[in-house]
Amino acid sequence: MFVSNNLSIGKNGHLVFAGVDTVSLAEEYGTPLYVMDEAMIRTNMGQFRDSVEQYYHGGGLVCYASKAFSCKEIYRIAKSEQIGIDVVSIGELYTAMSVEFPAEKICYHGNNKTEEELNLAIEYGVGWIVADSFSELELLNRIAGEQRKNVKVLLRLTPGIEAHTHSFIQTGQIDSKFGFTIQFGTAMEAVKQALALPNLLLDGVHCHIGSQIFEIDPFVHAAEVILSFIAQVKDELGYELHTMNLGGGFGIRYVPADQPAAYRSYMEQVSKKVKEIVAEKGLTLPFIILEPGRSIVGAAGITLYRVGGIKEIPGVRKYVSVDGGMTDNPRYALYGSEYDFILANKAGEEKVDTVTVAGRCCESGDLLGKDVALQNAQIGDILASCATGAYNYSMASHYNRVRKPAVVMLRDEKARLIVRRETLDDLISCDL
Ligand code: LLP
Repeated sequence: MFVSNNLSIGKNGHLVFAGVDTVSLAEEYGTPLYVMDEAMIRTNMGQFRDSVEQYYHGGGLVCYASKAFSCKEIYRIAKSEQIGIDVVSIGELYTAMSVEFPAEKICYHGNNKTEEELNLAIEYGVGWIVADSFSELELLNRIAGEQRKNVKVLLRLTPGIEAHTHSFIQTGQIDSKFGFTIQFGTAMEAVKQALALPNLLLDGVHCHIGSQIFEIDPFVHAAEVILSFIAQVKDELGYELHTMNLGGGFGIRYVPADQPAAYRSYMEQVSKKVKEIVAEKGLTLPFIILEPGRSIVGAAGITLYRVGGIKEIPGVRKYVSVDGGMTDNPRYALYGSEYDFILANKAGEEKVDTVTVAGRCCESGDLLGKDVALQNAQIGDILASCATGAYNYSMASHYNRVRKPAVVMLRDEKARLIVRRETLDDLISCDL
């Protein structure tokens, strides 16, 4: 009935999340409110970490893709689960380093990293920088030389795989702003260039085929394409790339109909294929890196809103307006993403109505869901949107000068604030 197993109905008919009454949370911390389930985050991190150990025997590292949800506390949790992280900006890197995240477990990405960013990343000594272009290889080599360091580099490749997902979050296809294309020989040229630059240590290759992918086949196919490339490099240049980073992209359940594959079966099938190819081509089993983001935090989060207005246009549509919207979750406006909604104070009741959940911004497209099933709503009800743990807080904006909500973390049925609600003074703090 619910999209994840950390949701249930309490004796009082309220929605319970990770053992905590969500109506009480809304009362105590206010709305809109992001709520996260620490046990589920740790379980997911552990499952990925353990599946690599269980099925893959060439060594590996799970690097949580922190663009999905980034704040100090998530880096502390990743650190204590002994996994790595993927960062894509100086902001994510700085946040992670502020809680002393081990730099050698950080993979730094981006298709246009600035000199300032690369300087800091090299200064911190991040584990890998994923180079995205020829000019970046040159720049990296220069900065590394200036800092008298050698930099471990992965090359981002576009394997030419089109996974079935929204075109905005597809990244593996040839027509992509990211990486070096394998097909036209560009990737091979990049390998040659990286090997020729004295301050770079070319450690391996990376690919990420897209996000919210349910099938396992495209991942297995990506591993196949990447390994063939590693074999080709060995044949042509006599150099064996050591590390293979296969990115993230594993889908999660947003609505009951979604059927994501189990992470275990992903690793099991990818490992089997990798071992087969390695044996066939006479390669050494590469060190493997995975970068799950959404699948670690997505179902571990919900957002609570308060209903502030109801408008029924006879024969047309019923709008239920809440005190948040595209500023805390732009995913419906951007991708038409679906969510499951529940009135937290009426969770035990049937969903008898069909409503459109509207945000509070001055924009007609500011919706959180269109024609969704809901219990009978009244002003003052608490509305929960499920599986909002990924790409909601991290994509929040200040449009209309709306303040960003607080984030509360639940553990052992207790709540603690991990990001405080923004104040009006926070909003004007950069204005001169
Ligand atoms: N690694 C790389 C290089 C990536 O670009 C991404 C996501 C990931 C890992 C993590 O992918 P995940 O496991 O979370 O699917 N804003 C969009 C998602 C954009 C994903 C971008 N890259 C959304 O809200 O659906």
